[in-house]
Amino acid sequence: MRFKDKVAVVTGSGQGIGETYAKRLAAEGAAVVIAELNEAQGQRVADEINASGGKAIFIRVDVSDEESCKAMATAAKAAFGDVELLINNAAIFAGMRYEPLLTVDINYYMKFMAVNQHGALFVTRAIAPQMIARGGGAIINQSSTAAYLSGPVGNYYGISKLATNGLTMALAAELGAQKIRVNGIAPGPTATDAMRQVDAKIIEGIVAQMPLGRLGSTDDQADAALFLLSDAASFITGQTLCVDGGMIRKP
Ligand SMILES: NC(=O)c1ccc[n+]([C@@H]2O[C@H](COP(=O)([O-])OP(=O)(O)OC[C@H]3O[C@@H](n4cnc5c(N)ncnc54)[C@H](O)[C@@H]3O)[C@@H](O)[C@H]2O)c1
Repeated sequence: MRFKDKVAVVTGSGQGIGETYAKRLAAEGAAVVIAELNEAQGQRVADEINASGGKAIFIRVDVSDEESCKAMATAAKAAFGDVELLINNAAIFAGMRYEPLLTVDINYYMKFMAVNQHGALFVTRAIAPQMIARGGGAIINQSSTAAYLSGPVGNYYGISKLATNGLTMALAAELGAQKIRVNGIAPGPTATDAMRQVDAKIIEGIVAQMPLGRLGSTDDQADAALFLLSDAASFITGQTLCVDGGMIRKP
């Protein structure tokens, strides 16, 4: 029960890794805000947490819209009090388009970056004042090993994640004095619905090159994220941890 009586916001927690983050935080005592664009999925996750004895509320948010983020933060405080823990997990990932940078529709690119790059900042701007009021907090920004890789198409995804790593370092510098720690999780390929849409042969090829030779699970990601949110990581800030079966080995 590392997060007993703490208030947590997890964006994009209507499915996939975010859903596991929210359920694991609730299982360890946090009151969790399911801050999600998809109403049916967000409400489902909140209902499941409440039905299993946890505490959760669904609040609809579009992380690419700063006014929507502010409204979510206000509603979160009204429901549970000042927020102490935040996971910026929402992204356009499942069903994303894979196009070259030179020809991807520019409106799609701008929307993609608004969600995947700027969303974490918009939500942090809305929530951080509550953490400051509480005397501190902890934030996780969801990156990806794609930040360190590039391929023939879809590279705006990796660019947005590299920017997310920069945001993590910059926010750690700006918010440290307020006792707010900011870290990142960079998952390698992780078994979610989004990954299950990828051709099995492509997945086999990726896994064959990973030292630990398997896909990650959403619980692998939650184990690391909850550690970084917990007091056991109280001297760690500004880091992005690859949780990737050894796929990326940075010097
Ligand atoms: N699954 C993987 O292998 C993998 C690997 C590396 C990084 N990641 C990252 O982990 C996170 C979760 O991945 P996933 O596989 O669960 O993805 P997913 O696409 O299944 O889930 C993303 C969630 O974000 C929500 N969302 C999308 N746009 C939003 C918006 N504007 N406002 C609020 N919510 C919004 C979606 O509705 C969805 O519930 C993402 O940041 C993704 O980039 C995933």
